[in-house]
Formats: sequence, structure tokens, C-alpha cells
Amino acid sequence: MVDINSAIINLNGQGFLDISIDPGLDIFGEIEKLKKEKNAIILAHYYQEPDIQDVADFIGDSLGLAQEAQKTTADIIVFAGVHFMAETAKILNPTKKVLLPDLNAGCSLSDSAPPVSFKKFKDKYPDYLVISYINCSAGIKALSDIICTSSNAQKIVESLPKDQPIIFAPDKNLGTYINKQTGRNMVLWNGACMVHEIFSYKKLLQLKRKHPFAKIIAHPECETQILSLADYIGSTTGLLKFSRTNDAKEFIVVTETGILHQMQKANPGKTFIPAPPENNCACNDCPHMKLNTLEKLYLCIKHELPEIIMDETIRMAARKPIDRMLSISAQLGL
Ligand code: 13P
Ligand code: SF4
Repeated sequence: MVDINSAIINLNGQGFLDISIDPGLDIFGEIEKLKKEKNAIILAHYYQEPDIQDVADFIGDSLGLAQEAQKTTADIIVFAGVHFMAETAKILNPTKKVLLPDLNAGCSLSDSAPPVSFKKFKDKYPDYLVISYINCSAGIKALSDIICTSSNAQKIVESLPKDQPIIFAPDKNLGTYINKQTGRNMVLWNGACMVHEIFSYKKLLQLKRKHPFAKIIAHPECETQILSLADYIGSTTGLLKFSRTNDAKEFIVVTETGILHQMQKANPGKTFIPAPPENNCACNDCPHMKLNTLEKLYLCIKHELPEIIMDETIRMAARKPIDRMLSISAQLGL
């Protein structure tokens, strides 16, 4: 929605903004200055472009970001990530201003579960508890009992009695993986992430043949066949930690490419190879995450726009399952 080549942009119902930026401006320095002046914090996901990661106060996976949003004392949260992440921060901080550099930064996985259809699906399973992956809209969260992320999903499922029937939404790949890990038979919503479904099994095998000592590390949003080749499966924070602690010198990374920035920074002597997508495209770059740019981040913090605005009834209903996740995670030391 923000086109940095035109001077005026339409903020989807939040007014118009003059976005001309002096080409000589030290954007990094200006962002630092604005953060201090406004008592603002920048929370960034690992899939953001490197420049954004470098100006962030905290970089993390979805759980880490939600925990950081829960405890921040800043007046303004600038969320460098996608809409459901900023929305989660707003759900936890109704009195704070929560900004997202580009309001169009959505998520294909979140879009794969429209609340109206999900409600019909849920009504077919009246005794089931609903665990939803955090990559969903506030409308889906409001229909859920517990939220989870890729780093706590297995433990959250295991914290429930074995005979508890569960619906898991919206990611069928993560759900299949957790079913396998826990021996449960959760009913799965048929959603998926466009980025994690693009990896090629055949090309991954070929790459592994070329790099026989490389460890394959994959995100659980990938398909079962891809995960079957992985030496380690985990959230973005888990993948980063594994790259630090494992002795291998080469890693084939099966997730969005943004994570490579922190991997390379933390391990200068190691090589990280992005896993090959099905076509010769850059489809393992999330088009939603990459809508945010350093320029948009600067404009967002400067003008305090665009802002996440939520319906209070949905916000309150969506808060309960998030609080439940955060309290289970705290009890489990996650
Ligand atoms: P995590 O960072 O929680 O592993 O999630 C990955 C993801 O796809 C976020 O959109
Ligand atoms: Fe959504 Fe996939 Fe992009 Fe993550 S990587 S924001 S799950 S589309």
C-alpha cells in the first residue's frame, strides 16, 4: 500500500501521507532518534529484511515476539512483521499504539482460515477443544481455546489429557507433524503457508548429495515429505539455536530466507544454503513479510501510521486463548 516512488499514499482508511524522503537522510540514525523521542520499541520477525532486523530492539519467533509484546513498557510498538503478529501485540496491549509499516502485510496461512467457514467446521465437533496456531486472524483466535506457536505447539498439546479431542487450525502441515510427534489424532483444518509448501523434495535431495555433510534444518510448516529429510525441525528461534550449537559447518535451511541474516551473523565460519523452491523463483521469500521496508518503517514510526485498530469484542475474545498460551508457556519455562 505504501509506494515509496509516489509522494502521497493512501493508508487504507487511515488518511493520506506525504512520503517523500530526502535521499541523503540517515534513515538508521533517524529511526534511533524517533524511537527515543517517542518511547517506541521495534519488534521484528526473523523473516524481515536484514536492514529492519538491524534496527530492531528485539528479533524473534512468534512466541518470543508475543512474550516481548506482553512485557514491553514502551508507549508505541512498531511491529516489523505481518498483520496477525501486530494484531496479537494489540490484543495484548489495548491502550498502546501498535503500528505495522505496511497494513497489507498479510499471511497466506492466516487467509486460509476464514472465520465464518471455520465456525461451521468447528460446530461439527462440539466436544473438541480448538488449538490454533498463532498465524491466524483475531476472528479465528476468538473461536479458539488455546493459541500455540511452532515453538510450543507440541508441549501445549502434550499438556492436555490424552483422551481430549482436539481441532488443530489452520496449518495442516504443523498439525500433521504434531500428530506424529504426540501420537494424537487431532482433526486438522486444511490450511498451509505458501512459502513453506514451495520447497522441492527432489531438488533438496540433489542438494544434499552435493553437500553430504550439511545438516538439513526445516520449519514444521513444511510438508511431511520435506520434513522426512530434516536433521532438525523447529521454529525460527529453534533453527537459529541449532545452527549455533551444532558442530556442522554447512546447513541447508528449509524456511523463509530472512532467517539466514541472523544465522550468518552468529556463525561467521559456517555456510548456510537456502533450500531450493519448486520453480526457479524467489518463492521462499515471503511476499507478505517483504512488503515492509526500512523506508516504510521510518515513515511509520515518524507519522505513527498505519495503526492496528480492533473491534473491542473480538479483541477480548481473542485475548483469552493467547493468555492461556502465555501462561502454559511460562509454567513450562518456554
Ligand atoms: P516462527 O517464527 O514462530 O517459527 O513462525 C514462522 C512463520 O511462518 C511466521 O510467519
Ligand atoms: Fe504467513 Fe508463511 Fe509468510 Fe509466515 S512465511 S507470514 S506463515 S505466508
